[in-house]
Amino acid sequence: MKRTLLVAVVVLSLAAVVLADAHEGAAEETTEADAQFVEGEAAERPIRTPETKAAALFQARCAACHGSDKPAAGLVLTTDAFKSAVLDVQSVEIKSLELIDTEAPDKSYLLMKLRGDKGIQGGRMPANAPPLEDEEILIVEEWIAFVLAARAAEAAEAEDEDAGATGAAAAGAAAGAAAAGSSTGEGGGGASEQAVPSDDTDGKKKP
Ligand code: HEC
Repeated sequence: MKRTLLVAVVVLSLAAVVLADAHEGAAEETTEADAQFVEGEAAERPIRTPETKAAALFQARCAACHGSDKPAAGLVLTTDAFKSAVLDVQSVEIKSLELIDTEAPDKSYLLMKLRGDKGIQGGRMPANAPPLEDEEILIVEEWIAFVLAARAAEAAEAEDEDAGATGAAAAGAAAGAAAAGSSTGEGGGGASEQAVPSDDTDGKKKP
């Protein structure tokens, strides 16, 4: 009886290891493919992603007033700070709105300020300068779409990992049960405890 349980535990643990390996292998393949793709592109021209385009736009048209030194409205739009300064961040002018609302992108206050929508406080942005062209506003909209797509992909990947972790947790729990029978309790129990906290999909949604 005990022996059967032990065999089951060994088989389960092996299965978990094989699964984990297969998963890692798949992840490595995509990373390599991505790297090659980026390298190939870089050979021809500098890499332009929706994010680098938005960064360049903010840097050129906004950072003079929204720089890290005494930023207007406390808003920093320099290349290295703009993401954390706007994504799901409350507007100081209209507190019920977010600068970029990733749940309802069209209600983003930053876009309203760029379009000069009715209902904004203060002036249309950029202040004291000609308004942005439609194509320039589109750069910001495309960047928001890009952020949302990247998050969706990340969430799907995390779900994948969770599926693997659940297998490992099951094996760990089984090992814990077997160990309890044979009085070397800690190893197996510990493994199952460690496997559980990796389930942090929710924490990853808003960086
Ligand atoms: C000449 C200086 C200047 C430039 C350039 C400028 N801003 Fe502003 N910005 C301000 C000032 C001053 C305020 C506060 C008063 C107002 O809203 O009119 C402000 C406020 C804002 C707000 C409101 C912040 C909040 O939390 O409610 C946003 C959003 C904004 N700017 C975005 C931009 C963007 C995007 C650009 C570039 C396309 C830009 N600004 C360029 C001076 C500037």
